[in-house]
Amino acid sequence: MLLRDKRLLVTGVLTPQSIAFAVAREAQAQGASVLLTGFGRGMSITEKAARRLPESPDVLELDVNEPEHVERLAGDITERWGSLDGVLHAIAFAPEDALGGNFLTAPWESAKVAFQTSAYSLKGLVAPLAPLLAKANGSVVSLDFDATVAWPAYDWMGVSKAALEAVTRYLARDLGRDGVRVNCISAGPLKTVAAKGIPGFDRFIDSWHRRAPLGWDVTDPGPVAGAAVFLFSDLSRGITGEIIHVDGGYHAMGTDLPT
Ligand SMILES: NC(=O)c1ccc[n+]([C@@H]2O[C@H](COP(=O)([O-])OP(=O)(O)OC[C@H]3O[C@@H](n4cnc5c(N)ncnc54)[C@H](O)[C@@H]3O)[C@@H](O)[C@H]2O)c1
Repeated sequence: MLLRDKRLLVTGVLTPQSIAFAVAREAQAQGASVLLTGFGRGMSITEKAARRLPESPDVLELDVNEPEHVERLAGDITERWGSLDGVLHAIAFAPEDALGGNFLTAPWESAKVAFQTSAYSLKGLVAPLAPLLAKANGSVVSLDFDATVAWPAYDWMGVSKAALEAVTRYLARDLGRDGVRVNCISAGPLKTVAAKGIPGFDRFIDSWHRRAPLGWDVTDPGPVAGAAVFLFSDLSRGITGEIIHVDGGYHAMGTDLPT
């Protein structure tokens, strides 16, 4: 078992379709103890999803944009565990007018919400947890969508993902001296609540079917969960500041595959 005796904080479980749900399930299967967080009115939905995991974990309240929530979370984990082996950041949000082809008209207020919730929040979550992570040579993993190119409809979420990649590198720089590593998984498209909020998401799916050499199942977050388990495990102890693509190979192709 790759994660025997490891203690992980998993944010971003909303439904059993959430990528974070698959990570929590796989982590438990690999021997980890898991704590979940829930957000706002979604809290009860997260608690319901938690009961579908092999071992039902506690769900702690977290609005990642509220520093006092993060401080409370750090205090709670200190009392329960005293250290922390890993954190999954699986949080993103952009207002409607910052997505769906509104790039040129989106106001700063909406772009700001996308940036704060989807990129700055990685620092906001990890900095208060850093002392706990440092005690365990911990691993931080976040979820990215390839931000080296522009996508249809992704707009200010795409810009925020570029920032998330940069935040990953800066955190890797500042936490490496304490033995903490920080990496991103750049995932292919998966059918989740967050994905439903992106108008034209189906165009991504079609494109993946034409281009990913390994193929890609948009209903299966299992491959992403597998990579997360690797990054939480000691097998990845020499990796930090990295972006690992788990997208069926889509990112490496210059054009669609020959039919
Ligand atoms: N679904 C995809 O195609 C895809 C692809 C690549 C990356 N990702 C990324 O994966 C991550 C998880 O998304 P998902 O697709 O599993 O969807 P999801 O809707 O299941 O998860 C998004 C989560 O973000 C949480 N959240 C939003 N605002 C928050 C806040 N202020 N504080 C705390 N939590 C908050 C929600 O409660 C929810 O649990 C996101 O970062 C997303 O951008 C998704």
